[in-house]
Amino acid sequence: MSKLIVANWKMNGTLVEAHDRAVAIATAAQAEDLAARLVLCPPFPHLPAAIKAVEDSPVTVGAQDCHWEPKGAFTGDVSVAMLAEIGCGFVIVGHSERRHGKGETDDTIRKKATAVQASGLRPIVCVGETLVERESARAEAVVGAQLAGSLPSGAASLIVAYEPVWAIGTGKVASLADVRAMHRFIQSEVAKLHPGVPLVILYGGSVSPDNAAEIMALDEVDGALVGGASLKAESFLAIARSVPQA
Ligand code: PGA
Repeated sequence: MSKLIVANWKMNGTLVEAHDRAVAIATAAQAEDLAARLVLCPPFPHLPAAIKAVEDSPVTVGAQDCHWEPKGAFTGDVSVAMLAEIGCGFVIVGHSERRHGKGETDDTIRKKATAVQASGLRPIVCVGETLVERESARAEAVVGAQLAGSLPSGAASLIVAYEPVWAIGTGKVASLADVRAMHRFIQSEVAKLHPGVPLVILYGGSVSPDNAAEIMALDEVDGALVGGASLKAESFLAIARSVPQA
């Protein structure tokens, strides 16, 4: 299967910038024979413009978060039904900026992922250890517990993004050996938790045009979740172009 390259625009940019960037990416994706499938995750207010911009292109749009309830008194939240109605195909759940920044638990993330899946969208469930956890040799234990606690049950297929917290937005990338080892660990844990369920494992954390080719060449890596380098169409496309033709 072709690799999946996901742009996480976080809380950045204007509506015009999001629209123009989405148009540039969709135009290139339409014109070129890219080996990668592309997903753009803009902030909520920019979703409709991005969805319109990628119409008739192979690019898909996703959201960065959601609530797990279908509706109700949840001020400031957005339901999966609302995201589905406007044409989102994916939702990122459990990003470390929500696990650590907003105190989201595995249970919250599992409920969100379950709601996303139940609406026919694809959850991208993020996991990853902090620097302290890695330095104290607890990276696998932490990621294993996150997988056990936050993956939805009954999924026909799963997408996990391995994002070491210390590599996000820092310019520090996990070594290729560490990426391979953790992706293999995730593969074996998910095989135990969800036997026979097809799994896509993305790497995230300071992926850039400079390091993408060597990371994307790894068999254990099925794609990337890209933050900073996805904020410019050209650098995001450079990452997409680094995916080797299968
Ligand atoms: P980064 O962010 O590429 O800027 O490190 C990745 C992410 O947070 O998903």
